[in-house]
Amino acid sequence: MKPETASPYGHFDDATREYVITRPDTPLPWLNYLGQDEFFGLCTNTAGGYSFWKDAKLRRLTRYRYNNVPYDLGGRYFYVNDGGEVWNPGWKPVKAKGVKYECRHGLGYTRIVGERDGLEVETLFFVPPGENLEVWKVTVRNKSAQRKTPKLFSYQEFCFFEALNDMTNYQRTYSIGEVEVEGSAIYHKTEFRERRNHYTLFACTRPIAGFDTSRDAFVGIHEGLHEAKVPFAGQATNSVAFGWNPIGSHQINLDLAPGAEESFAFVLAYVEQGEAPKFDAPFVMNKSVGRAIVEKYSAPGAVDAALANLKAYWDALLGNFQVDCPNEHAQRMANTWNQYQCMATFNMSRSASMYETGIGRGMGFRDSNQDLLGFVHMIPSRARERILDIAATQLSDGTCYHQYQPLTKKGNADIGGDFYDDHLWLVLSTCAYIKESGDTSILQAPCAYADKAYENVVTDTLLDHLETSIAYTMKKRGPNGLPLIGHADWNDCLNLNCFSTEPNESFQTAGDVRDSKAESVMIAGLFLYAAREMAGLYEHLDRNTDAARMHGHYAEMLETVERVSWDGAWYTRAYAADGSVVGSHTNAEGKIFIESQGWCVLGGAGANNGRARQAMESVHQHLYTKNGVVLQQPAYSAYDLRLGEVTSYPPGVKENAGIFSHNNTWIHLAWCQLGEGDRALEYYLSICPSAKQDQIDTYRGEPYVYAQMIAGKDAPCFGEAKNNWLTGTAAWTFVVVSQGLLGIKPDYAGLRVAPCIPKDWPGFTVTRRFRGDTYAITVRNPDGVSKGVKALRLNGTEIDPTKPIPVVGDGSTHSVDVVLG
Ligand code: BGC
Ligand code: NOJ
Repeated sequence: MKPETASPYGHFDDATREYVITRPDTPLPWLNYLGQDEFFGLCTNTAGGYSFWKDAKLRRLTRYRYNNVPYDLGGRYFYVNDGGEVWNPGWKPVKAKGVKYECRHGLGYTRIVGERDGLEVETLFFVPPGENLEVWKVTVRNKSAQRKTPKLFSYQEFCFFEALNDMTNYQRTYSIGEVEVEGSAIYHKTEFRERRNHYTLFACTRPIAGFDTSRDAFVGIHEGLHEAKVPFAGQATNSVAFGWNPIGSHQINLDLAPGAEESFAFVLAYVEQGEAPKFDAPFVMNKSVGRAIVEKYSAPGAVDAALANLKAYWDALLGNFQVDCPNEHAQRMANTWNQYQCMATFNMSRSASMYETGIGRGMGFRDSNQDLLGFVHMIPSRARERILDIAATQLSDGTCYHQYQPLTKKGNADIGGDFYDDHLWLVLSTCAYIKESGDTSILQAPCAYADKAYENVVTDTLLDHLETSIAYTMKKRGPNGLPLIGHADWNDCLNLNCFSTEPNESFQTAGDVRDSKAESVMIAGLFLYAAREMAGLYEHLDRNTDAARMHGHYAEMLETVERVSWDGAWYTRAYAADGSVVGSHTNAEGKIFIESQGWCVLGGAGANNGRARQAMESVHQHLYTKNGVVLQQPAYSAYDLRLGEVTSYPPGVKENAGIFSHNNTWIHLAWCQLGEGDRALEYYLSICPSAKQDQIDTYRGEPYVYAQMIAGKDAPCFGEAKNNWLTGTAAWTFVVVSQGLLGIKPDYAGLRVAPCIPKDWPGFTVTRRFRGDTYAITVRNPDGVSKGVKALRLNGTEIDPTKPIPVVGDGSTHSVDVVLG
């Protein structure tokens, strides 16, 4: 296999859109997500992980112990007892010798197959679209020449729904666990007798030979999962948990002739039973909703039909954007994995991954607004709903709750607000939504401010929120005329008002921002971008006075940026609370930062005076490495309480000169804006996971999804990825590849085509669904240029290449021919 496609641990199967892992001992657990709507599961390549409904903190259904030893232990386990020999198809937890293993992480499903001694056990985990449950399909095949009578034991641990309580409050939790067993179904109903109206169902679609619901009975008190008592004994105990730790385990006895196989399934469901009636008898829960679920999935063909739905679901979603281009990595990521990761970040924000425990952070204000940019082309209606949810956590003074819980949609008071970039991202997500969908009605959608949510009649609209956001930045400016920073801007670790000397406080919340003078150049650049977006929106709405007002704000901020933020060869980063400059050649460390170069250039600063190009050349000279662009240089070597958390990290990691993939994407877009297609692709590939397979033992992360951070050149582990999956990199990279490099940009009046590609690309094709039509776009590059469209034809007719392709709107496919030059 070509090195572009394979690593020593596995390979891409582009045809099936799977990453195939061929040995279980990957450099780190490699994760996949199950679920697309409201029920989600984390599933690693050894079947580790857990499931939850909507909210990993408040509705966690199965239990997982983070930072375990090994890292990943506990999950959707099957123990096979084949003539006394015990093993797992996913290798863990027994890790028996001689198990042939393959894991295929696909779109919304994970298939793990183990084979030992002629017995093959295939397990498949997925969440059917629109359902609040997970299906575990199992197929057992006797590939040997002898009859086999294996016993199979399912195993997973129930969580008491509220995850923090579940893992901290044992004086209570050890006494409350309750289950019921009915036929092949195990019902976890802790707290159902009091305030809950929901339970967890774990059922098998075939008759069982026994069950266990007590962890102590199944595993033992002094045993580990790798030596659990029941599977080694080969006999379930039919234990009914009373307190302690309820689990779900079914025993299946099979009798397979040589060549025979048997398939069956398990369902793990979140069930809201309702109140009518809650109980059939004292202590006997009304299980009618759960029973109906078991019945549905026990019907022949039901599981395979659900799987077919899932495949059709993803085919349709990805069909909205497909490219055929000369670079294998860009093509693979854009067509499949990048879009797939965008769905995960849209659903999870920064809540639940191998690095986020699902407890600390819910939906981030700035994070979720940015996540929308890579998702909106897939399901615009969900983006619409999300925008309104996020906006409703803004306060009437313009500040925003920094995070909110997905279940309650209420702002999180612990972290609060006062991150003075947050509100501006709402402008970007709203404009992206309208450009994609054409739906300007969202602007008039009623949307209360979080501090006015008690009002019965909501008179504020989303457009009011956008105006409030712009006005807030104009108002909140410091001595140099730049936006104040608050607790931090996009860089959560640039805490210019924190001055923390107390190790037990959070850098993000400590410090008084009220009378601060600390200013952010990055917010100024972001503001330029947002003000221009607002002006464009008003022009689209024919509200020219409002557009002119926005252009006025833009001009004022641009003048300020150029006057106070140019350092000679790049834009500075900030002014600290004491008025000193941050990110200047006059600083000993942290002389040049990435974020202000990216945002000033994207905001249009330096466009007419050569500074944009010079700033980008400085990025190339001081910050670029083969593994991506480091956040700043030189890295901070000592804690500086004026600057906060950014100086707390060892040099080369996270915000202290790590390669923070998210902000790299702004540089990619800036290169595209400058017409530098070769640089743009080179930079794009420097952080692209698919391109890391030949250095995977250094990189360590999943080669199919972006990492939040890759260790920078100052770190001993230069090139090592961390915090994979939940990062704004996913959305922004999709913007880079689809709108920057390939140049297919949604605009109010239609799709714009303005590619910026490497000069040696002969061309590419894109299929793009847009407002109900399909555009089959062919781009040719006969003159070997990076940028510039010299001819554009729609369905064979020449049209103006400087304008968007008009929306045809007849639901059919249109050919678009583009000639660069
Ligand atoms: C991390 C940031 C993150 C912040 C807020 C910091 O420790 O370095 O990347 O945004 O925490 O949770
Ligand atoms: C991760 C956070 O989720 C995001 O909000 C922040 O912008 C980056 N870290 C940079 O600090």
